[in-house]
Amino acid sequence: MKIVRAKDYEDMSRKAANILAAQVIMKPNCVLGLATGSTPIGAYAQLVERYNKGDLDFSEVTTVNLDEYRGLPRDNDQSYYYFMNDNLFGKVNINPERTFLPNGMEPDSEKACRDYDRIIEQTGGVDLQLLGLGHNGHIGFNEPGDAFELRTNCVNLTESTIKANQRFFASIEDVPRQAYTMGIGTIMRAKKILVVVSGEDKAQIIKEAFFGAITPKVPASVLQLHRNVTIVADEAALSLI
Ligand code: GLP
Repeated sequence: MKIVRAKDYEDMSRKAANILAAQVIMKPNCVLGLATGSTPIGAYAQLVERYNKGDLDFSEVTTVNLDEYRGLPRDNDQSYYYFMNDNLFGKVNINPERTFLPNGMEPDSEKACRDYDRIIEQTGGVDLQLLGLGHNGHIGFNEPGDAFELRTNCVNLTESTIKANQRFFASIEDVPRQAYTMGIGTIMRAKKILVVVSGEDKAQIIKEAFFGAITPKVPASVLQLHRNVTIVADEAALSLI
């Protein structure tokens, strides 16, 4: 596990974008596993900037996102589909037919999950997976539990996650209670993993996830077992390390 220390959010975003950009340059037809949440927004903005300068070409890139809320239509401005279009897909020359997210509008959760597993499999596997870190150690929407979920699954979001995500919705009642998320097994099969973490409120969970016991109670702790993980975190997030 490699830890890259960044000064602040800006610096973290630039350093994370360097790693993502290097992947796209080295393998133009790579498969990127992408994440939502507020942490990667700055890195996406950096990628857009580099694309606008002519330094990056996304025309052959395939993307698979970690998760999507169950029951939110794509045009809802809180859906992860909308987020990705807003922050990246709509701003670079990526082929929309090569960008994938779980289908939040598929009511049959078993079908939604198996369909998404098939899509990921057809891409040939993720070259570089970007991850944020939830306050309770969740990755994607894999919440703390008794076992690591291997494949795409439908999760009941925990109260703390619902509260954390409340800031994006008009009221707490509007926050979806369920989501479809890529499983831990699939995340662990990515060739490389890049975790971005920012802010003092993540300091405790960084310590638990990457320096504590490996347990499904802290889903991100499983990343200690992956062979190629880079954590790019700012000073505030690393303040307890
Ligand atoms: C959300 C997403 C995760 C994300 C996490 C942290 O619930 N499903 O993929 O990593 O929360 O979000 P943030 O980066 O806003 O702290």
